[in-house]
Amino acid sequence: METIFNCLIDSFIADKVGLAEHFLNVPLAAQLKGNLNTLFDSNQLREAGIGNDSVLTQDKLIRSDKIYWLDPKHNDLHENNFFLLMDLFVRHLNSTCYTGITGYEFHYALYETGSFYKKHLDQFRSNKSRAFSMIMYLNADWQQEDGGELRIFNEGNTQTIAPLNGTCVFFKSSELEHEVLVTNVPRMSITGWLKTD
Ligand code: OGA
Ligand code: NI
Repeated sequence: METIFNCLIDSFIADKVGLAEHFLNVPLAAQLKGNLNTLFDSNQLREAGIGNDSVLTQDKLIRSDKIYWLDPKHNDLHENNFFLLMDLFVRHLNSTCYTGITGYEFHYALYETGSFYKKHLDQFRSNKSRAFSMIMYLNADWQQEDGGELRIFNEGNTQTIAPLNGTCVFFKSSELEHEVLVTNVPRMSITGWLKTD
């Protein structure tokens, strides 16, 4: 685990965008994707909003993904395995980088065909508790023509990242603007934030 954690952290330190392939192992990615499909089939996904006090009709022009928050209270084996992984990562990050992370929140996200998320920052103006953004993709067999790339704007450069199965992206929530390009097939991920008090 340490190797993959360091891969993510070292690339983050090098150019502000941490990137690690196979951050989620194949079974865990498949299990979480299974959960997401079940949530979709049972109509439990909700249209995502922006900010704290958002008006959903306006938000739809900015983002069109559907989400569901993970929660230890669900007592779901795979969610709990995911939380164990995040606990290890946070402990490693705090001990190697003195980041002082004290919590986190994660949601499943489904971008149905044609969905997108326009350029934005992940930190709310009214609440600065989100320190780092983390996105992990659940798309086996992703093809170039499928679209749905994450585009990150980093000091005049843009970086375009395909949402490949198991890949994790990690960056400071207050710093880097980013967008999700229109996806041509259903696109799945776990997205979340590491938080400070
Ligand atoms: C977000 C976000 C990026 C992605 O949910 O805030 O920017 O690649 N997601 O899914
Ligand atoms: Ni974002």
